[in-house]
Amino acid sequence: MSDSYDDNDKLVEWDDKYAIGIPLIDEQHKQLIQLTNDLYKACRDGTEAANAQFKEAIRGTVDYIKYHFSAEEKMLENIKYPELTAHKRQHESLVKSILVDVKNFEEGKKFVPNAFVRELKDWILTHIAVMDVRYAQYMKVTRHKI
Ligand SMILES: [Fe+2]
Repeated sequence: MSDSYDDNDKLVEWDDKYAIGIPLIDEQHKQLIQLTNDLYKACRDGTEAANAQFKEAIRGTVDYIKYHFSAEEKMLENIKYPELTAHKRQHESLVKSILVDVKNFEEGKKFVPNAFVRELKDWILTHIAVMDVRYAQYMKVTRHKI
């Protein structure tokens, strides 16, 4: 996955080298990338229609993030992942900070869509590369399959 500055429509491109090897989770991560790109597209031109689209898309993104996190946490609970608490804490802190941003956006307070989307993208990629890769490794070593 890399920033694609040549392609103005996409902020980030999914690359299979970022797959953690658990198909269900990889599919959800792809969807997260897709939603991030949709948000990026919606905030690029400042038209009224684009703003309305952004407003819709941001709620959908928050919902999907929550859905994905809870699916992931359920899986990690099932395998009794020893680092689940720390993992959950990262999820919670992202959701909390996104909800603050969304609230600011909806109330017309200080909110920079482009910066928001870029931060979200960075968070997702880092979280996959650091935290999610860790449990995938654990599952491999302990031969857990889902
Ligand atoms: Fe995660």
